[in-house]
Amino acid sequence: MTSGVQQIRLDQPFSDQKPGTSGLRKSSRQFETPHYLESFIEAILCTVPGVQGGTLVVGGDGRYGNRRAIAVIARMAAAHGVARIVTTTAGILSTPAASNLIRQRQATAGIILSASHNPGGPDGDFGVKVNGANGGPAPESLTDAIYACTQQLDGYQIHDAIDLNLDAPGEQSIGSLQIEVIDGVDDYVALMQKLFDFDQIRDLLSHNFPIAFDAMHAVTGPYAKRLLEELLGAPAGSVRNGEPLEDFGGGHPDPNLTYAHELAELLMGSDAYRFGAACDGDGDRNMVLGNRCFVNPSDSLAVLAANATLVPGYAAGLAGVARSMPTSAAADVVAKELGIPCFETPTGWKFFGNLLDAGRITLCGEESFGTGSNHIREKDGLWAVLFWLNILAKRREPVAQIMAEHWSRFGRHYYSRHDYEAIASDAAHGLYNRVKEMLPALVGQSFAGRTIATADDFAYTDPVDGSLTSGQGLRLLLDDGSRVVLRLSGTGTQGATLRVYLESYVPPSGDLNQDPQAALGDLISAIDALAEIKTRTGMNKPTVIT
Ligand code: G1P
Ligand code: ZN
Repeated sequence: MTSGVQQIRLDQPFSDQKPGTSGLRKSSRQFETPHYLESFIEAILCTVPGVQGGTLVVGGDGRYGNRRAIAVIARMAAAHGVARIVTTTAGILSTPAASNLIRQRQATAGIILSASHNPGGPDGDFGVKVNGANGGPAPESLTDAIYACTQQLDGYQIHDAIDLNLDAPGEQSIGSLQIEVIDGVDDYVALMQKLFDFDQIRDLLSHNFPIAFDAMHAVTGPYAKRLLEELLGAPAGSVRNGEPLEDFGGGHPDPNLTYAHELAELLMGSDAYRFGAACDGDGDRNMVLGNRCFVNPSDSLAVLAANATLVPGYAAGLAGVARSMPTSAAADVVAKELGIPCFETPTGWKFFGNLLDAGRITLCGEESFGTGSNHIREKDGLWAVLFWLNILAKRREPVAQIMAEHWSRFGRHYYSRHDYEAIASDAAHGLYNRVKEMLPALVGQSFAGRTIATADDFAYTDPVDGSLTSGQGLRLLLDDGSRVVLRLSGTGTQGATLRVYLESYVPPSGDLNQDPQAALGDLISAIDALAEIKTRTGMNKPTVIT
């Protein structure tokens, strides 16, 4: 054994380290249980191929536990013969920046410390995500193998405690492990400068175009200040809540109308700003707003696709697009007109990975405020913000007008997601399984004045590797193209979360100016009656409506 390395024995393995859609996500308290973090890291280091002698990119969204985890990973990596760790000052590294760094450095893998949009702090959540050499989330085969390893672990190896300095860029070492601390913003900014027309955007922002960006005291603050204020000339203060805090200032760093309500009120309730945006804890999600205009994420993907050739990085056109199943079909209509393929994948960014790697798609997105492209292998919040700004800089029209023109050309997909959070697990699974069993009998039944044409549990065959993923959500497809989808969240940490996705299409000749909740009202009551949502959850309204 290398000198300075301790072999710690575990009385029994932890049985609850099964990674979900986005890695292992648990309460901070749970991660502070003795040996808990170490057990999961040991399983990663023992399972990921090429760790010995390899390079790991390590960093996180700055939440409580970030620095401690980086030190633990460094000490364990040293014990496992890792050659190099690339980490960042204060350990601040957004998920998209980590994806980029893994690719730039041709690293073996990345370990990202984040529970994404979940609250942080001692009473909040923490998380550990593993990304592969392509910069994307580890495939299920790998996370399953990591989980299997945790279940039979009898101990782990760790180097003696060290004094890891993350305060400034520099090189340090533990045994034969080199630790390189870099500025986590530089490489990401360089990538953005390759994709977008910074001169045009700077010109837009200098012509009476005030913007507000809310970093929600999470990881994007330093990135947004550099990009929007320093490089693009937005006045100081355009980036709000730009200081990353360990508990995100007590907030819930999820950029939607409920949790980013300060920003929403500024944009929807005043004329002070022409454009607003927010990102989540680890910087991969985005919400885009115009003056008195909310852009729903499904529409955002469609608008980016329809306008992509206005942006230098996408001027040659798109190979194809993809969206997750619950995302509205707004992008499908654009893809059809552009004559490019549109893929429908299960929820979770990892399902875009093969399509991106194979060059079959250029843009992809999810209704959950996730948008991205082939520039990295994660969704990318600030990339989406810059993409919108580049389109606005070219078109010089208000966001609301861009949306109105989009709908009058392609029709409008009224869309909403209703989340019922922290339901008792039994109630949620009972509700879900009941509807699942009813599916075959529902075909041909009437529903909200229409007829149910298809009722199924979504399954996906990956067009690149042929792998099958089933059990991805219950779909009721109606004869007029409307649909309702039920899913149980794979990322919550308290009880279960039921997501109800509602969608109804109105062609360009129809009424394009309705309130989405009103336009979807009949679907909302019909699914409640069918699935007995209110009675079974004991909640008379959703926790979050998007
Ligand atoms: C949620 C979103 C999903 C996204 C994931 C990670 O997962 O719905 O689109 O990929 O977070 O950001 P869920 O909680 O629904 O399983
Ligand atoms: Zn996130």
